[in-house]
Amino acid sequence: MTPAQSQLVETLLQRFGPKAVTTDADAIAPWLRDWRGRYQGAAPALLSPGSTGEVAAIVGLAAEAGVALVPQGGNTGMVGGATPPADGSALLVSLRRMNRIRSLSATSNLAVAEAGVILADLRDAAEAEGRRFPLDLGARGSATIGGLVSTNAGGTQVLRFGNMRSLVAGVEAVLPDGSIHNGIAALKKDNRGYDLNQLLIGAEGTLGIVTATTLRLVPGLVSRAVAWVGLKNPADALALLRSLDATTSAVESFEIMPGRTVRLVLDHVPGIRPPLGADQPWHVLIEAVATDPAAEPPAELLERLLAPALESGLASDAVIAASEAQAESFWRIRHSISEAERAAGPAVQHDISVPVDDMPRFMVEGGAATEARFPGSSTVAYGHLGDGNVHFHVRAPEGADPEHWYAEQAPAISRFVHDMVVAAGGSISAEHGIGQMKRAELERLSAPSRMTVLRAIKAGLDPKGILNPGKLVVLAPALTSP
Ligand code: FAD
Ligand code: MLT
Ligand code: ZN
Repeated sequence: MTPAQSQLVETLLQRFGPKAVTTDADAIAPWLRDWRGRYQGAAPALLSPGSTGEVAAIVGLAAEAGVALVPQGGNTGMVGGATPPADGSALLVSLRRMNRIRSLSATSNLAVAEAGVILADLRDAAEAEGRRFPLDLGARGSATIGGLVSTNAGGTQVLRFGNMRSLVAGVEAVLPDGSIHNGIAALKKDNRGYDLNQLLIGAEGTLGIVTATTLRLVPGLVSRAVAWVGLKNPADALALLRSLDATTSAVESFEIMPGRTVRLVLDHVPGIRPPLGADQPWHVLIEAVATDPAAEPPAELLERLLAPALESGLASDAVIAASEAQAESFWRIRHSISEAERAAGPAVQHDISVPVDDMPRFMVEGGAATEARFPGSSTVAYGHLGDGNVHFHVRAPEGADPEHWYAEQAPAISRFVHDMVVAAGGSISAEHGIGQMKRAELERLSAPSRMTVLRAIKAGLDPKGILNPGKLVVLAPALTSP
């Protein structure tokens, strides 16, 4: 620990006690590695503030002392954004203790949730009041509201409700000087200059520590139906989505998976029966809902809308879950992909978006081009087709040592894939953010003028660069104050 760090830790321990500060290596260790196990960090202390006031005190003292801080929620991020530097030069600030839902109103359709509230808990609390918080993803049991806001998370309901940015109505945060930004009120209109709330959403903890947010809720479900459809290729999948979208807004999720990925999950997750023959080249999970008791039951709707697709051959096979348990088992396959992928060993992972209509071409041609350029490798692309966002993962050739191959090949593969994405007018980060994983690629592929603006924003709010150093953008040395 540096003298400045130990001074800060000492002061905080005296002021806020052992609940808010630990230097116990065993307590800190589980939080020093990212979910995918790609980054190993170090931190001499883990700070766990219990209130916005405590966060403000921590940041204010750290700013004075020039001590770096890394905010952390559920540590489920996919780009190493919550992992502290390996040299122990930063303290971890966990928001997990700030886990109160301050209010939840079915009349105003708003909830005020503190940063450490876990997504599943907020979703459950909304359902108990006949409402829904319409953002879902496989990490719902660990991901926190503060992390979801800070990465502008997407997930499997973006098709109808947008990503986190669309669902945030207010933000309370502590800025890098320790001052409290109070933008928590859900004002329909507020034109008092630059929108700090929007700036903090997706800032990955580099411009402020989110302490609470006001979130939009939507009507609760009367019923839902989940279908599993087999298709020949992504183009047919998009044509199917377009045919559904043309006739109903009841479809809220549409997730595409290649047969290879479904087989990987079925091998990894015991006890799940394949919804269709896993030899289908492509699979799509579709969820349709009803929020109005008078609406057509979703199962009948899906049956009616899938029939022509089956007759025309657009869909080769389809099944509608016959029970809520079967519907859950369909979703379990989709939400187990990340775990199955992690268990299968390292892959060069990309979270990319291109214009939706171009996604089928990109998935097929981009995969073929990558496998041609890197002989023996294999690519899979799965995910949020309707958002124009897939997870494009490149695996080692059979027989190669995956770790060695990954270390050798990952940079070149990512440059190749990202060049294809940029050539298609797409983004190298659709929903996971930049973190430390994509910082170099963001620099390489952004217009210098854009990077200058991003740095100016960072320097303007965090001139000492104490918040989440090394993530998203780094201040040019000249910019950090002495
Ligand atoms: P952390 O990982 O703790 O932190 C993420 C980033 O936010 C870091 O930069 C951190 O410094 C910062 N941060 C955290 N809390 C705060 C705060 N209070 N104030 C300021 N900065 C903060 N993501 C998607 O978008 N879509 C998906 O479909 C999806 N599926 C996933 C499935 C699985 C199985 C897993 C493991 C992850 C998935 N993710 C997905 C990624 C991850 O869940 C999201 O990025 C999520 O938003 C991270 O939340 P977290 O609380 O774990 O944040
Ligand atoms: C998903 O959609 O499954 C997630 O974004 C996680 C991943 O990319 O592994
Ligand atoms: Zn995703």
